[in-house]
Amino acid sequence: MYNGKYIIPGLVIFAILLTVPFWYNLGSPGYATPELKLPAGEKNCIESTEWMKAEHMQLLNIWRDNVVRMGNRVYTASNGKKWDISLQNTCMKCHTNKAEFCDKCHDTNSVDPYCWTCHVAPRGNE
Ligand code: HEC
Ligand code: HEC
Ligand code: HEC
Repeated sequence: MYNGKYIIPGLVIFAILLTVPFWYNLGSPGYATPELKLPAGEKNCIESTEWMKAEHMQLLNIWRDNVVRMGNRVYTASNGKKWDISLQNTCMKCHTNKAEFCDKCHDTNSVDPYCWTCHVAPRGNE
């Protein structure tokens, strides 16, 4: 004998639990975002926040290739705004708190970009 009253709700709850990671990832880049220190006094990133979340690694690669291979130091964002291509002087000028921004999210997701052996991180918050 089994108690049917509990089986159906049990299965429904089980199915919901199984698919929580899926629901959770809808509209997000598919990784965990901890609480971050966002730049004070700035509202927008170079591109939209969602795009930056998903694509900042590729953007940095494109930036590097532009500078190193093509000698181009200006990036035109999708809204037409122009930015100096510089990890140190553009990204990190706004994102001054590397520890509580880049590092915090990377640590949460076990990523460890090797950039800072050569590129200068903002001082005072390593
Ligand atoms: C071995 C040293 C080294 C490492 C490691 C390194 N870079 Fe660079 N990177 C350079 C040099 C040298 C340049 C050329 C600098 C210039 O001409 O302004 C450069 C240029 C760049 C540029 C364009 C110019 C600038 O000042 O930002 C970007 C963006 C960049 N690198 C991103 C990265 C990223 C992202 C990483 C990590 C994934 C990384 N680099 C790792 C040496 C390095
Ligand atoms: C003009 C200042 C500014 C510059 C320059 C800038 N950012 Fe941002 N960035 C911001 C702000 C402000 C936000 C948060 C926007 C929001 O709250 O939606 C942000 C958000 C982000 C996010 C998403 C954070 C999250 O909430 O998950 C990433 C990743 C990011 N920036 C990386 C970069 C990188 C890499 C560069 C350089 C290529 C860069 N940013 C340049 C201001 C800037
Ligand atoms: C909201 C979370 C988050 C924030 C904030 C963030 N990153 Fe990342 N970053 C990631 C994740 C996740 C990856 C790994 C993506 C992958 O492997 O596909 C990554 C990868 C990278 C890579 C490529 C490294 C590699 O080994 O492939 C670089 C370079 C990088 N981030 C630079 C930055 C810089 C610079 C900042 C701060 C201005 C920053 N990120 C802020 C989540 C974040």
